[in-house]
Amino acid sequence: MRKAGGSHGARFVAIASLLLLVVLAFVDASVIHRQKREFVIPDWIEIVDEPVQAENSKTIQRAVRVRDAKVTYDGAQVWRVRSSEGQKDLLSNVTTDFQDTGLPSLWTRNDTTVDVMVRLEEIPRLSRYLKQKDLEYQVVIEDLQKAIDEENPSLSEQEMEELEGRKGHRMEWSSYHRLEDIHGYMDYLAETFPDVCSVVSIGNSVEGRPLKVIRISNGKANAPALWIDGGIHAREWISPAAVTYIINHLVENSEDLEADYYILPVANPDGYEYTFTRDRLWRKNRKRSVGSPCTGVDLNRNFGYRWGGLGTSKDPCREIYAGSGPFSEPETNAIRYFFEASAANFKAYLTFHSYGQYILYPWGYDKRVPPDYADLEMVGKQVAAAIKKAGGANSVYTVGNSATTLYAASGGSDDWAKAILKIKYAYTIELRDTGKYGFVLPARYITPTAKEALAAVMVVTEACKSL
Ligand SMILES: *[C@@H]1O[C@H](CO)[C@@H](O)[C@H](O)[C@H]1NC(C)=O
Ligand SMILES: *[C@@H]1O[C@H](CO)[C@@H](O)[C@H](O)[C@H]1NC(C)=O
Ligand SMILES: [Zn+2]
Repeated sequence: MRKAGGSHGARFVAIASLLLLVVLAFVDASVIHRQKREFVIPDWIEIVDEPVQAENSKTIQRAVRVRDAKVTYDGAQVWRVRSSEGQKDLLSNVTTDFQDTGLPSLWTRNDTTVDVMVRLEEIPRLSRYLKQKDLEYQVVIEDLQKAIDEENPSLSEQEMEELEGRKGHRMEWSSYHRLEDIHGYMDYLAETFPDVCSVVSIGNSVEGRPLKVIRISNGKANAPALWIDGGIHAREWISPAAVTYIINHLVENSEDLEADYYILPVANPDGYEYTFTRDRLWRKNRKRSVGSPCTGVDLNRNFGYRWGGLGTSKDPCREIYAGSGPFSEPETNAIRYFFEASAANFKAYLTFHSYGQYILYPWGYDKRVPPDYADLEMVGKQVAAAIKKAGGANSVYTVGNSATTLYAASGGSDDWAKAILKIKYAYTIELRDTGKYGFVLPARYITPTAKEALAAVMVVTEACKSL
């Protein structure tokens, strides 16, 4: 909390202007005293200052903030807007407009297709707007809140405890798990298989949660190293789920490993927790911006190569806010320092996202490719083939350059890994699906999707070995 000097009155003004949601609570001290035992602060109120009691006053002044209530999406829908051949320019303009206003919220897009989330009260206006522009759309998710409610039928507390008793941890892949379960699983592996696994925290998030990286290695000499991360965008739940599945596979088959793996399954732990407790569709981290009522930086726009270029925003209220500067966020900074300190021989940098089923290589900052893009394209195609083999008819992944295949976005981790770290195989992999459920992919798809992600890791491992 930032402290303002001067009288209490002035201090309150300062705090109130800093946090726009501040209300002042004046609680009579004698009342508190008398009712000490009964006085419970409800959980929707958060105290944001130190207690102040003026001399000879019965009044204690506290600055409190009303916590955000859980966000619901009753009546909200996801629409797919399509452009015909001659409308690409128009769609691009309309998309820019959506992005600048934040209404409706953009889910994903390419040259011809844009998925947007529309709140109930916005439906008539957006429908009129699109008709006026002569753009066609279809409703993909009829009732978003229903989809959210049905997506993750998680285990009961009793089932969880049984699981933990039986296995020593709470991780499994039929439901999406909280951060505590994922971190508990990593710690369990490090304790149980100390010859193969070790866990370090490479830093802390804005809210102080550890950024846990597991190293998996059987100590083979001259093994190449691969970096794998997940969950940099909070709402992409399939990503940490798939990455933990990969961890499980690598540890169980550790005698066959031919590379060393450094894996950060939840790169944005605050955002991830926030998607469980407050808002299922939160994307960014949880940094409060000074001078703005809005929270959060898009961590995948915050890396320090071509920071702040195409596909980013300087407005803290936008989903693609790039932060106040390159590596302004502790989460991205921790990754940078990890690589600066590491002596490992990194040959691949794989970052898992959703959705769309794409295997993307640099650059993201513009529609250009690195000099060795033919290698990236070739290995990308091998990855797509292996995924198809692992998953079948629904497992079609498109391979291509990031900015061309999807859209330009600068400050991404893959561009930074390729340009600054000079890591050969830098890929962003957008996991399932192709839009039927989007971010709200039901938990029954975790295992099939994770098998695809694992197939990708195995193919890239092979490519690294032959470098
Ligand atoms: C898109 O925006 C550009 C730049 O503002 C403008 O020149 C162009 O006419 C627009 N195109 C359409 C189809 O609206
Ligand atoms: C754009 O996305 C849609 C929906 O996933 C897909 O059908 C289409 O093939 C994509 N277009 C390009 C050029 O990739
Ligand atoms: Zn993402």
